[in-house]
Amino acid sequence: MAFLLAGLSLLATVQAANVKPVLVPNGCASLPNLQQTGPASGFAGPWNIVVDQCVNTTAIDNACTIEGFGDMAVPITLDDQPDVKSGFVSIVSQKLGAKSYLICTSGIGFEAMVFYDNQNDYLPINITSNPASAQLKWGQAEDESEPVDAYYHYIDGKKQDGIFLGANNVTSWGIQLQENVPGTGGIPMWQLRLLGPGSEDQKTGKALKEGEYKTFIRIDGS
Ligand SMILES: *[C@@H]1O[C@H](CO)[C@@H](O)[C@H](O)[C@H]1NC(C)=O
Ligand SMILES: *[C@@H]1O[C@H](CO)[C@@H](O)[C@H](O)[C@H]1NC(C)=O
Ligand SMILES: *[C@@H]1O[C@H](CO)[C@@H](O)[C@H](O)[C@H]1NC(C)=O
Repeated sequence: MAFLLAGLSLLATVQAANVKPVLVPNGCASLPNLQQTGPASGFAGPWNIVVDQCVNTTAIDNACTIEGFGDMAVPITLDDQPDVKSGFVSIVSQKLGAKSYLICTSGIGFEAMVFYDNQNDYLPINITSNPASAQLKWGQAEDESEPVDAYYHYIDGKKQDGIFLGANNVTSWGIQLQENVPGTGGIPMWQLRLLGPGSEDQKTGKALKEGEYKTFIRIDGS
């Protein structure tokens, strides 16, 4: 049994190492649930994004308890900046009920449904440029962020199931439970951080921080 588990986790590690992300052609038009409301005015969605192939290196079998958990848009409200609209797209517990939808709109890119002033709005999301904390957020300045892209995964030249979010050919994210992010009202959430070049933990030099796991983020239904 121990041998079998060791073999399985080795397999998981080897597979993760060989995944090659390939940009989905034609942007939003190749994503699930495409809505055509006119030539070039379509959007795809809505869908959730979910934790996929999460690797818990501290568990014997590498299994993650948050596999399949979905996203929630968590607004940040700071007392000294009440009018600034920004926030995180994070992963939340299955128990937290309603999840937030994302869509992909031609000419804009990925957007998250956010609740402000008693109504739902779709706001563009992108990834913080800072390599050490490349978070998935809305309300970021253009010169401080990068667009989110959708990727297929290939292993040994074979296309795998699923469409995954990332940027610059990277689809691996660090995911870590945070309970007291300023301005969020203390909602426990699993925060995402893209594991691109320069994302290593500054103190230890390791790819992941303590208590952080590695995962892909898949468009639900893809
Ligand atoms: C990871 O594994 C450790 C050790 O088994 C466990 O305490 C922790 O809850 C696990 N976390 C996740 C997200 O699977
Ligand atoms: C990021 O999103 C904001 C809106 O929230 C937008 O103004 C900005 O141009 C975007 N940046 C990029 C690089 O797409
Ligand atoms: C991503 O990979 C493609 C194909 O290998 C390559 O053409 C492109 O330059 C890469 N983009 C980045 C940002 O590395």
